[in-house]
Amino acid sequence: MIIAPSLLAADFGRFASETTRIEKAGADWLHLDIMDGHFVPNISFGPRVVKTIRPFAKLFFDTHLMCSRPEILLEPFAEAGVDQMNIHVELGEQVTSLIWKIRQLGKKVGLAINPPTAISHIQPYLGQIDSVLIMTVNPGFGGQEFIHETLPKIQQAHAWRREHKLSYRIGVDGGINFATAAECARAGADTFISGTSLFEQRSLKAAIAKMRKIADKNAVANGLDFNHQPLPTGHAGA
Ligand code: DX5
Ligand code: ZN
Repeated sequence: MIIAPSLLAADFGRFASETTRIEKAGADWLHLDIMDGHFVPNISFGPRVVKTIRPFAKLFFDTHLMCSRPEILLEPFAEAGVDQMNIHVELGEQVTSLIWKIRQLGKKVGLAINPPTAISHIQPYLGQIDSVLIMTVNPGFGGQEFIHETLPKIQQAHAWRREHKLSYRIGVDGGINFATAAECARAGADTFISGTSLFEQRSLKAAIAKMRKIADKNAVANGLDFNHQPLPTGHAGA
């Protein structure tokens, strides 16, 4: 089980020390939400910021590109030292070449899918990716409420993984708190992105430990033992 706090919910005035704090609190990954003001109606931060915080933790940097033109950002983020880049399946015919470019840069590939998009859209790519990122809110802002209608998509991604003997991770992103993490784990998720709910707790360390415990306890039986090779959680280097 991977617990990945989102930097979006951290203190924007102290990203460097927040990065260290997140690592010390026991996180597995750091989730970096990149918003371009076009694919989503909000702007967050870019490669320069990520490059600046990179030396402050050895954590696996998981980048979520909510961007209409991710092709212009792949190289800068690779140079900034991220470990994985998630692009959105809603980009349509560009997806194949984006996956290829991310691989060429030597990075892990994730494919994100928005709540209104049918899960069938990710099926053609499942053999080519390291992670599926099932959006459980409409992307753009932290602190939104979990959309329960996305749960069957987690189950489907999990069923396909077994059926085709694949090993991609199944991530959930948006409105993940202790209760919704349990529901997602029961549906087959193994990677939990969480911003607001983790950071609003008094102790981030205790919150991460609690979420991991809940995820473990509710994990689908045999959900992770079927030819599943978890990704390394540590940073592999820029
Ligand atoms: C939503 C982002 C999420 C978000 C999660 O656009 O992709 O990663 O930061 O934050 P919470 O947990 O606050 O929904
Ligand atoms: Zn995200």
